[in-house]
Amino acid sequence: MKAIAYTKYGTPDVLELKEVDKPIPRDNEVLIKVYAVSINDWDIGLLQGDLINRLINGLLKPKKKILGSDIAGRIEKVGKKVKQFQPGDEVYGDLSGDWGGFAEYVCARENALIRKPVGMTFESAAAIPQAAMLAVQGLIDKGKIKSGQKLLINGAGGGVGTFAVQIAKLYGVEVTGVDSSAKLEMMSSLGFDQVIDYTQVDFTKEGKYYDLILDVKTNRSIFDYTRALSTNGTYVTVGGHMFRLFQALILSPWISKFSKKKICIVGLKQNKDLAYINKLFEADKLKPVIDRLYDLEEVPEAFRLFSKGAHKGKVVIKVKENYRI
Ligand SMILES: NC(=O)c1ccc[n+]([C@@H]2O[C@H](COP(=O)([O-])OP(=O)(O)OC[C@H]3O[C@@H](n4cnc5c(N)ncnc54)[C@H](OP(=O)(O)O)[C@@H]3O)[C@@H](O)[C@H]2O)c1
Repeated sequence: MKAIAYTKYGTPDVLELKEVDKPIPRDNEVLIKVYAVSINDWDIGLLQGDLINRLINGLLKPKKKILGSDIAGRIEKVGKKVKQFQPGDEVYGDLSGDWGGFAEYVCARENALIRKPVGMTFESAAAIPQAAMLAVQGLIDKGKIKSGQKLLINGAGGGVGTFAVQIAKLYGVEVTGVDSSAKLEMMSSLGFDQVIDYTQVDFTKEGKYYDLILDVKTNRSIFDYTRALSTNGTYVTVGGHMFRLFQALILSPWISKFSKKKICIVGLKQNKDLAYINKLFEADKLKPVIDRLYDLEEVPEAFRLFSKGAHKGKVVIKVKENYRI
């Protein structure tokens, strides 16, 4: 089969379209014909090979050579112990930890997958898993979002933010989104009540207060964020700069002790809320924002766009058949 593989850490230039062996499912796995796969921030980290990702995927060179976690496709074969699925089922899910999605076929454990609703395209399904789970778990599980609140999403024009605003609107909250100027028009049309260009305005110094802040970038001091929180406000981060996350982790008990403000860090529970997302999708209450579709051979180009942060919503690869190398 064809796959985008890498044998050394580096820039998107090290990603190559290759002929590799088609994987064989273990007893508790299914073999999926991949129709679409999206890019996540973690793919970039695994490609570049920072220290944490080297500890996960090999110190000197990558052990798992095919990246790609958020996939959608059709089951072709099932292992002996698989109970929920059969060949022909259309599924999607986050395969982080095993990866292998930038390929024509991938194997997955059945508990990493959910059936794709009939009306959902494979491209939409592939856009959902990580970003939508972070939005749900950030707003609902950690943020305890409530009707009437004022919410600010920092880094709002990417994958997590474009899901989060749609979920927040179901709770009747006022949503402000912060991102760069090129994304503000798309954000307004998606339902943000206010948009802020972070290159022009520092939302932490505006004198406005938010009941809930959902942050996908966490690129500044925790005290900047708490300054923009209302008296009982909650700050939730899903990720960002390591040092800033560490600072938030260490200081959160102290901030809660000396004020009524709360600091939360989301540890992604993979695929936990996909059934909820399916319901929202089927009720026409949520749809993924997809920047553009790329072919499998264009994955390096798609990674370049994603690394620059220039994408709106999600970047999705549509896996066709019959690639020529
Ligand atoms: N907690 C967990 O277990 C877990 C698991 C997986 C991923 N994650 C994290 O989840 C996050 C993924 O979010 P995502 O998929 O939404 O990312 P994304 O699609 O890259 O979106 C991030 C957005 O932030 C904008 N941005 C960049 N610098 C900014 C700044 N200084 N202020 C405000 N906005 C800024 C970017 O646009 P411009 O570049 O144009 O400004 C982009 O639109 C990452 O932080 C990742 O590490 C966490």
